[in-house]
Amino acid sequence: MSDYPPCRLAVLVSGSGTNLQVIIDKIEAGELNAEIVCVISNKRDAYGLERAGRHGIPAIVHENCSFPDRRSYDAATVEILRSHKVELVILAGFMRILTDVMVNAFPHAIMNIHPALLPAFPGLHAQQQALDYGVRFTGCTVHFVDCGTDTGPIILQSVVPVEQDDTEESLSDRIRSAEHQTFVQAIKLSVDRKISVAGRTVLISP
Ligand code: GRF
Repeated sequence: MSDYPPCRLAVLVSGSGTNLQVIIDKIEAGELNAEIVCVISNKRDAYGLERAGRHGIPAIVHENCSFPDRRSYDAATVEILRSHKVELVILAGFMRILTDVMVNAFPHAIMNIHPALLPAFPGLHAQQQALDYGVRFTGCTVHFVDCGTDTGPIILQSVVPVEQDDTEESLSDRIRSAEHQTFVQAIKLSVDRKISVAGRTVLISP
């Protein structure tokens, strides 16, 4: 049992939401002292919204088309998050770069998962970048979000081997299995208040 009340999470998605599903499952299994208070998607047809609905989690479509720029979109996102009293924001395949408006509203309280061992292969198509480079190992990285593209302080990483006959799809599948475990571990460290940040370094207490 934790000494703390369940951490109020928002999970932001743009697509399938397999990472979201694992987080939901771990919470329902009592392995993560957290509650997902809303799932937000910038894509109306994101399957992650359906996953949220199935578990009785408020699913919010928040498209960017009616906003003049990224900062005003982020300001509206912050309002939604504040209205749900969110403590920790989880980007689980949310395909937008955040501006200072979001980052400053939740300092060291926004986590992202990236399908490579940062700082290698940031940005889109990280798995294909790894194949093109010919690395023997790649993996996934959970990091706090800053205003750059996949540049924030690193919380956890897992290494995944690259096989000779890998395609982008087969490598992505292998990395995604690692993501599911690594993301939940990182969220657990945060909700159990075992993480502090010193400059770029994330310190984990035993
Ligand atoms: C993952 O590969 C993650 O690393 C990237 O987006 C993908 C999301 O997958 N940021 P899913 O929607 O959780 O299945």
